[in-house]
Parts: sequence; structure tokens; C-alpha cells
Amino acid sequence: MNAPLRSDPAAPADPTSIDADGRAVAPAQLRPMSLADLDPVLSIEQQAYSFPWSRGNFVDSLAAGYLAEVLVGEGRAGEGPPILGYHIALPGVDELHLLNLTVDPSCQGRGHARRLLDAVERHAVQRGLASIWLEVRVSNQRARRVYARRGFAEVGLRKAYYPAPHGSREDAVVMSLVVSGGLRAVD
Ligand SMILES: CC(C)(COP(=O)(O)OP(=O)(O)OC[C@H]1O[C@@H](n2cnc3c(N)ncnc32)[C@H](O)[C@@H]1OP(=O)(O)O)[C@@H](O)C(=O)NCCC(=O)NCCS
Repeated sequence: MNAPLRSDPAAPADPTSIDADGRAVAPAQLRPMSLADLDPVLSIEQQAYSFPWSRGNFVDSLAAGYLAEVLVGEGRAGEGPPILGYHIALPGVDELHLLNLTVDPSCQGRGHARRLLDAVERHAVQRGLASIWLEVRVSNQRARRVYARRGFAEVGLRKAYYPAPHGSREDAVVMSLVVSGGLRAVD
């Protein structure tokens, strides 16, 4: 088991209002995920996936010290800032394994996944990790396209990796991103 790793307590606010393609992006910022976030996180998770993570999966990830952050937007008067999405990643010796990346279905298509992926890559660079990898369902064309546009390459296939309807299984595509500047310095 890896030693507990915490995400940076003060992830920088993202003041960007225009994305790399010149589109307007709503204000949002990242902060570490905590147990107090799990009700809204689980609500998003259950809307976003046919086979969602359980509360226990999130509790275990936090307890194990995985890198876990939520992207929060601007709250309306009298309400707390809404959670727009989140990611959970497991730092290894040379690689960061992205285990979960999800955007609230009501606010997809606004660049939030890209923001979350930027944050994941920043963490990989800060930790001196050489690459990020993930699995995605073969049928999840939307996510595969988002990852591909972000620079991930499809590097393999895991047969029958995911549960699927009627007790069947679905293959996973393995995708990987080489992190520029992330190579560990030789002592
Ligand atoms: C896959 C997922 C994370 C993508 O999240 P998202 O926030 O919609 O992604 P983005 O907005 O960053 O990018 C999606 C599209 O919006 C476009 N976009 C990005 N910024 C934009 C902006 N500011 N305005 C308008 N469109 C924008 C992107 O170009 C992209 O277009 P494309 O699909 O043609 O490439 C989201 O659909 C999701 O949570 N799905 C369910 C869970 C899931 O499958 N997770 C991945 C498991 S491996």
C-alpha cells in the first residue's frame, strides 16, 4: 500500500474565463475532496454512471490518501458553492493512475473535464511522474474523445474489465498521457 498522499491543500484558483479555444468558461476552482462532500459527489456519480462507485469506494479512496479533488462553481445567494465535478487518482512510483473523473451531467460540455485533467496533469508534474494512465469503457465515446483531445493515446485493451447490463462484461480501453516535464530527476 502506498503511503498516504494528500492533494495540495490550496490548489490554485482557476481564474481563467476564456479557454484555449477562445470559449467562455464559468469561474470554478479545485479543492481537496472530503467526507463532507460525499452526498453531492454520490448524487453526481449515480446520475453519471450505470455502474457507479459506492460510498464505500469513495470513503476507502479518501482513507487511503488517494489524490481526490472537487471542482466547485459559484454558489447562488444563500447556497454553498455547487460541486461541478471531481477526480480521484492513485499516484504510483512513475505513473498517476486516474481512477475516476466525472462532471455533473447538468454542466457537461463547458470545459470542466478539461480543467480537471489540467489539475491531474499538474499533480503528476509536481510529483515528478512520467505519465498518467486510465481505463475507459469501449462504448464511452464521449470520454474517449475528451481524453484524446487532451493528448491521451489509446495504448491497450483490458478484456471484460467492467460490469455491463444483464451480467455481461465490457472491455476497457487503456489510455496514457506522457507528462511533459514530469520525468523524475536522477539523483
Ligand atoms: C466524459 C466527461 C468527464 C466529459 O466532461 P465535460 O465536462 O463534458 O468535458 P468538456 O466540457 O471538458 O469537453 C466536452 C466537450 O465540450 C467542449 N468544450 C470544452 N470547453 C467548452 C466550453 N467552454 N464551451 C463549450 N464547449 C466546450 C469540448 O471541446 C468537448 O467537445 P468534444 O466532445 O467535441 O471533444 C463527462 O461527460 C462525464 O462525466 N461523463 C460521465 C462519466 C464518465 O464517463 N467519466 C469518464 C470515465 S473514464
